[in-house]
Amino acid sequence: LRLFSGSANVPFSQEVARYLGMDLGPMIRKRFADGELYIQIQESIRGCDVYLIQPNCNPVNDHLMELLIMIDACRRASARQITAVIPYYGYARADRKTAGRESITAKLVANLITEAGAHRAIAMDLHSAQIQGYFDIPFDHVYGSPVLIDYLASKQLPDLVVVSPDVGGVARARAFAKKLDDAPLAIIDKRRQAHNVAEVMNVIGDVAGKTAVLVDDMIDTGGTIAAGAKLLRDEGARQVYACATHAVFSPPAIERLSSGVFEEVIVTNTIPVAEENNFEQLTVLSVA
Ligand code: R5P
Repeated sequence: LRLFSGSANVPFSQEVARYLGMDLGPMIRKRFADGELYIQIQESIRGCDVYLIQPNCNPVNDHLMELLIMIDACRRASARQITAVIPYYGYARADRKTAGRESITAKLVANLITEAGAHRAIAMDLHSAQIQGYFDIPFDHVYGSPVLIDYLASKQLPDLVVVSPDVGGVARARAFAKKLDDAPLAIIDKRRQAHNVAEVMNVIGDVAGKTAVLVDDMIDTGGTIAAGAKLLRDEGARQVYACATHAVFSPPAIERLSSGVFEEVIVTNTIPVAEENNFEQLTVLSVA
């Protein structure tokens, strides 16, 4: 078994390696003057079972391309089995056509990974679970929820209500609520007017006087979760927590998240959080 890391989240890969009691394999990664990438695996992997860890986070195109080149390099080096470990699967929100003449980019990414030569893929908390079916190779969909739920449970929050920030996230929020002693569930009816702009309409469920935990797969610009928190406060929630697996954190997320509306923002380390993006209420849990 051999483990290699792309450049997207080296600390995460190092943690996985430590957990397995092994070292990350040696690999050269260079960039040519014109921006092209060069990858060379620096040890024999002939006949090996190779795991390549790389989330497709920002800059998503670069990180995806790096993963594809790593897979191709391993295939051409006669690895027996290549597994793409993709803690955060970028482009997952482009999982269907919502208008004519659009791409289903999540499917295109699956095609590219498979065509490059991966025999198997692993991803955590896909935006929609059906993306597994975009792959014709074995796919393991793993969840960050055990880590997030354990942490939330350890806080023993009083009068807990789990809130889905949109209708698409109800199944996820319901699973959290069930594991948190069958806490009640509330749902926010969100309408989007443009990409990356969220407009919150109203809450279905009772949140007045409660500790509300908003659960989402990712926080990108923070628009969804911040608007949700404001609405929950307006509806009388006593405290609002935000909980998401993927800390995409595109501007102005940090501004929105650190404005004081959240008691705590809990994310995992599938995407590295830059030092300048750290703020007082942020907790990053390891899912390595
Ligand atoms: C949407 O369906 C997703 O689950 C997230 O709620 C959304 O992508 C988060 O984006 P933002 O933080 O930019 O509102």
